[in-house]
Amino acid sequence: MSTDKDRIEQVALGAEGPEAGVQGLGCMGMSFAYGPTDESEARATLERALELGVTLYDTADMYGSGENEKFIAPFIRAHREQVVLATKFGIVLDPENPSHRGIRNDRAYLRDCVEGSLRRLGVDVIDLYYMHRRDVNVPIEETVGAMAELVQEGKVKHLGLSEVTGEELRAAHAVHPITALQSEWSIFSRDVERTAVPAAAELGTAFVPYSPLGRGFLTGSFTNATSELTADDFRRTMPRFTGDNAAANTALLEPVRSIADARGATLGQIALAWVQQRAQMHGLPVVPIPGTRKRSRVEENTAATRITLTDEELALLEPIADKVAGARYPDMSLSSASRE
Ligand SMILES: NC(=O)c1ccc[n+]([C@@H]2O[C@H](COP(=O)([O-])OP(=O)(O)OC[C@H]3O[C@@H](n4cnc5c(N)ncnc54)[C@H](OP(=O)(O)O)[C@@H]3O)[C@@H](O)[C@H]2O)c1
Repeated sequence: MSTDKDRIEQVALGAEGPEAGVQGLGCMGMSFAYGPTDESEARATLERALELGVTLYDTADMYGSGENEKFIAPFIRAHREQVVLATKFGIVLDPENPSHRGIRNDRAYLRDCVEGSLRRLGVDVIDLYYMHRRDVNVPIEETVGAMAELVQEGKVKHLGLSEVTGEELRAAHAVHPITALQSEWSIFSRDVERTAVPAAAELGTAFVPYSPLGRGFLTGSFTNATSELTADDFRRTMPRFTGDNAAANTALLEPVRSIADARGATLGQIALAWVQQRAQMHGLPVVPIPGTRKRSRVEENTAATRITLTDEELALLEPIADKVAGARYPDMSLSSASRE
């Protein structure tokens, strides 16, 4: 059971957005990318998160080719009025080549995607619908215009974008208010601070940092992905998890560990407190979405919302990102950083 003191605070997701718990839950790993899942524990994690005040649940049509939306659907339907349901379109998987990622942002594709998500989730409306990646062959104004039609038709309540630059966010927002920008942001990944963060702060767009735990790396759980991750774990292909990079990046966690030890906290909690605080320093409404499939971890992660780092602690963490070995993705061409 949780007491009121365990429950996290609520925040408005931007000027016109819905209210949500100050931390959300990334559901991707329950069906995709991070190796085998204990499904009953994952379902219990969804419920436990809600008890703790987590209301923003994040999925995408491409997570497990629709399987993740189907997996969370019964939970979402059982608590429809309490949850803020977020899903995404725009990344096209190739069944013949599982590591390949295509991108489509055109209206016809979008309209197919939204129907598929609504069907798999078993809901009438999606609370927050994101464009997952930017297809540079389609003007962003055109895509957001087509997404705005979905709002007018009542299929979607709010719009979001993922991995866009500040300039792209401004152009999109001029067509229809963008409630949330979801991009990678953590102690290890700070490229968003160049253009996306200032633009979001200026426009009143909330920030939803994804992979705030550096895909688990910031919890101190990994040193050598090849031996520590299962064969189907996507992180085996990620530059930061592999070979010499993993060892070099583990050494960078020392200040995170010393702060955690001094506070009786975990490394992951320090990482989550950091991103929440950095965003607030920029004047942003922020809801990080750590991903976990375990109840004990959702308890640990939500408790991090009650940690405030001192200026001295923030200063110790400041130099880390510039020293990280390896890019965020094996192919950075799909990221916002590649277009800045
Ligand atoms: N927009 C995008 O392009 C994009 C990209 C990636 C992710 N996302 C979204 O963001 C969400 C979060 O990102 P993410 O899952 O990639 O990375 P993350 O939240 O940084 O890390 C998740 C990993 O950390 C582990 N973990 C979580 N809490 C932990 C704790 N307290 N102690 C130790 N390990 C812990 C999880 O394992 P267990 O599950 O076993 O606990 C999982 O392996 C995803 O679920 C997805 O919804 C969006």
